[in-house]
Amino acid sequence: MASQKSCCICFAAMLVTAGLTVGIYFAVEAFKAIKSTGFAEKKYGDALKVAMQFFDVQKSGKLANNKIKWRGDSGLKDGNDANIDLSQGMYDAGDAVKFGFPMAFTATVLSWSILERGSRMNANGMDLLKQAQDSLKWITDFLVNSYPSKNTLYVQVGNADKDHKCWQRPESITDKKPLSQVNTTSPGSDVAAETAAALAAASMVFKKSDSIYSAKLLKYAKELFAFADKYKGTYSTSVPQAQTYYNSTGYGDELLWASSWLYCATKGKNYLQYVTGQTATDYANWGNPSWFSWDNKLAGTQVLLSRVLFFGEEDDSDGQLQMYKQTAETVMCGLLPNSPTATDSRTESGLIWVSEWNALQHSVASAFLATLYGDYMETSDNKELKCEGKTFKPQDLRDFAKQQADYVLGDNPNSMSYVVGYGSKFPKYVHHRGASIPADAKTGCKDGFKWLESTQPNPNEATGALVGGPFLNETYVDARNNSLQGEPTTYNSALLVGLLSSLATSSQSVDKSFP
Ligand SMILES: *[C@@H]1O[C@H](CO)[C@@H](O)[C@H](O)[C@H]1NC(C)=O
Ligand SMILES: *[C@@H]1O[C@H](CO)[C@@H](O)[C@H](O)[C@H]1NC(C)=O
Ligand SMILES: *[C@@H]1O[C@H](CO)[C@@H](O)[C@H](O)[C@H]1NC(C)=O
Ligand SMILES: *[C@@H]1O[C@H](CO)[C@@H](O)[C@H](O)[C@H]1NC(C)=O
Repeated sequence: MASQKSCCICFAAMLVTAGLTVGIYFAVEAFKAIKSTGFAEKKYGDALKVAMQFFDVQKSGKLANNKIKWRGDSGLKDGNDANIDLSQGMYDAGDAVKFGFPMAFTATVLSWSILERGSRMNANGMDLLKQAQDSLKWITDFLVNSYPSKNTLYVQVGNADKDHKCWQRPESITDKKPLSQVNTTSPGSDVAAETAAALAAASMVFKKSDSIYSAKLLKYAKELFAFADKYKGTYSTSVPQAQTYYNSTGYGDELLWASSWLYCATKGKNYLQYVTGQTATDYANWGNPSWFSWDNKLAGTQVLLSRVLFFGEEDDSDGQLQMYKQTAETVMCGLLPNSPTATDSRTESGLIWVSEWNALQHSVASAFLATLYGDYMETSDNKELKCEGKTFKPQDLRDFAKQQADYVLGDNPNSMSYVVGYGSKFPKYVHHRGASIPADAKTGCKDGFKWLESTQPNPNEATGALVGGPFLNETYVDARNNSLQGEPTTYNSALLVGLLSSLATSSQSVDKSFP
């Protein structure tokens, strides 16, 4: 008995020791977890939840399950003149025009974000993947309908000059909205190819959940790409009124971008040959870094094709894919603040800053690409990036991306968040018709301008809106007529959602192949 008892004591002592050890172990692990996946990531997750709502703010059409209480149905007759349903889709910014070119880009970026970060959108108790997919489908449904027959694509609903002469909620517009198209005699390779890219990327997003829809998207993507390639021209030459708003400076980048997405979706060698053949010689502009935007997709194409090389299923004997990857490296080396080739296009406190109009688009686009490139490096066996002899790691790219995201979320000289609804201080006078007019106001086109001129903050919160952002000197004027700085856009949001969903968990690995 004695020995048993002592054994019991001994066991009890062991339990206590074990308990302590386990306790300490858990405490240490919990601390590590807080450090690595806790508070730091939670901030980005919270911001992601907010940012994602802007897609609901921008919806046109019959709003099912509307979550924004001041929004209602609008644009229900859009497309009637052509006997098609163009009621859905999203307004690009603070007005009520639906521009196909930036809308398609929004869908491509959102698809890319879902493909790479879908699981992260549902991590840590977040439940945002379905919401992202629904927002995407709201656009792809529109894009599908905007392509009623071969070689015809509707690229704009509404006349922007006319729209801008009014200050009115989309819900109260009763005038007919004119439709603009591209076709064989007035081509638009840029917009047709961007739409092809969006549908090809989205076809992978919906492949598992809705294979019939996915197959339809892919079929249309292939046809639109063929149209874009066969009838070459810039859409803003064919539809000159688009020049003031979304002028396209060329279509070569969209052709390469669309073909890359079609390659990812089909694995068809023809699409890979296209991006490494004559079209590449003509348009790839290897070696020269560029800014990723709704107008220029080269940097995105370089990162996407780097993915193909990183995860190495393709023969690149002629080294053409390598040229894309090297250019992507040049882009990344330019972004890293401590790189010998770091770009000067930065504010004093380190925000990537390229243009006065919608400045933050370039900061979030750059950070988004940096997270992707860093994740590809981390997931592959290729964990070093050389910038003129100096070596960087995936974590350096992630740190750069965090720095940009932190700035946007409030770590800046104004101590303000540039995302409406996030943080304790954010813009209250966003340039946005719907947000600035009370939902029950009876004003129309011209008398609505009193809401633009009102000195009161917006009565409605455009939740999730990422505004244009600061000047180079980092000042920001929160005034409703300040569209330069204070107008949010859906493509800004798509890029921001991509960035935040990357930072919202500590994971830096991606699936090596898309669905
Ligand atoms: C082709 O598009 C142009 C530019 O939008 C338009 O003016 C023209 O009417 C269209 N052609 C046809 C046959 O619809
Ligand atoms: C639109 O872009 C084209 C091509 O770069 C250019 O020639 C044209 O002047 C631009 N139009 C406007 C209004 O900026
Ligand atoms: C900051 O830049 C803007 C735009 O260039 C300018 O209007 C403003 O006066 C500048 N503010 C300061 C404080 O320098
Ligand atoms: C906005 O309105 C204010 C006050 O009327 C005016 O001083 C300012 O110049 C306007 N800004 C723009 C960009 O129109």
